[in-house]
Amino acid sequence: MGNVYVMDHPLIQHKVSYIRRKELGSKDFRAMVGEIAMLMCYEATRDLKLQEVEIETPICKTIGKELAGKKLAVVPILRAGLGMVEGMLTMIPAAKVGHIGLYRDPDTLEPVEYYCKLPADCDEREVFVVDPMLATGGSSVEAIRMLKDKGVKNIRFMCIIAAPEGVERMKKEHPDVDIYIGALDEHLNSHGYIVPGLGDAGDRIFGTK
Ligand code: URA
Repeated sequence: MGNVYVMDHPLIQHKVSYIRRKELGSKDFRAMVGEIAMLMCYEATRDLKLQEVEIETPICKTIGKELAGKKLAVVPILRAGLGMVEGMLTMIPAAKVGHIGLYRDPDTLEPVEYYCKLPADCDEREVFVVDPMLATGGSSVEAIRMLKDKGVKNIRFMCIIAAPEGVERMKKEHPDVDIYIGALDEHLNSHGYIVPGLGDAGDRIFGTK
């Protein structure tokens, strides 16, 4: 059964408040999204399995610990998810990176796949799907469905800001997926933006507004 974790680390909370400010420019916004992703990755990997390994220091032989279990992959949902990749890789540099592109059909408002490129052995990996904003949940639900269709069994989802509506939808459609959230906001407005949120994360990361 998946769990929902809302980050209580002071550094994450501080940085999330910082990127909400409308006057923050793209360069600083992008840098801070990367830092938040890095800190969230640190928290979200607390339960990764370890195994003992014999090592030799310059002084003597000893038993250390190293990561065991499944290899990792990071899968950003395009476009805004790209902003979280580098921070994730700073923490887990051996992870492979896949990409999923979805756009929202203007008539049906349903997500439509336009790109999907995953590591060949993705089904054997523990996959972290990343997208800064969990709004309606449409994209993340669909991205995770695409991964499951390709045989991926171990999936976690990470977002910086979530609306309760998106969290509920994710819990309903993918109850097995752990969800890591930087801040849980109040609600969605009539345009699908998270309130108070931070505006359009993709535009703010890439300076397209
Ligand atoms: N996507 C964004 O970038 N911002 C929102 O508030 C909702 C969805």
